[in-house]
Amino acid sequence: MPAKLQNTPPIFCAIDKPDLDAAIKLCAALNGTNIGIKLGLEFFSALGIQGVKEIQKKFPNTPIFMDMKYYDIPNTVAGAVAALTHVLKPAYVNVHASGGLAMMQAAREACHEDTRILAVTILTSFDENGISEAGYQAGVKDRVVQMAKLTQTAGLDGIVCSSHEIDLIRDTCGDDFILMVPGIRPAGSEAGDQKRIMTPREAMDKGASHLVIGRPITQANDPKSSAQNILNSLNGASY
Ligand code: C5P
Repeated sequence: MPAKLQNTPPIFCAIDKPDLDAAIKLCAALNGTNIGIKLGLEFFSALGIQGVKEIQKKFPNTPIFMDMKYYDIPNTVAGAVAALTHVLKPAYVNVHASGGLAMMQAAREACHEDTRILAVTILTSFDENGISEAGYQAGVKDRVVQMAKLTQTAGLDGIVCSSHEIDLIRDTCGDDFILMVPGIRPAGSEAGDQKRIMTPREAMDKGASHLVIGRPITQANDPKSSAQNILNSLNGASY
């Protein structure tokens, strides 16, 4: 069975707002469901460690994925990962795989033992044209595989990847690698700006470890029931 960190939820809900009250409201709606939250650069830039601590104080049982996408020289990234994870001990944090082997190894070393560390292979905003403009020689798929292998060599726990890359990465990196998958849309919901989408059930059946789902929950009239419906769609499956 594909890797999934024990005692972590199948879904992390993306809170893409620099707004503590909105985040608290959403956490309250999700409280009691088996869903964690993903806090990213918008939230952290506006509200910092203190903002995350507020959430943890109010919702101590909600697992958090800190989507920081760190990218800098190894020493700096190690310092940032240590500062963040030793204080907050989130379930997950991430870096950019393109920071290279030494950067990822330093991040791994610095990460608190209660936090799993993932890498972003390549931003989904890159298309073939953008990737060649940026000077990368391999096409998108080849680069994703190359970055996933490098991430595994560095000893990280897994990667963030598109649902359409699950097969490829599972074949390359095996079942013990954690795959955190955004770009998920329940059947019948708005795609928004996501181009390559998949339903929650399809992505889990393909071998995702966790799903990142934002707007289908956060912009629903009733976030709690939307979240519950998504969880129900996974019921009966073997993960
Ligand atoms: O609202 P939606 O479900 O599209 O939100 C998806 C979340 O996953 C957002 O926080 C977005 O930044 C993030 N994400 C993504 N694609 C990636 C990596 C992260 O959509 N490759």
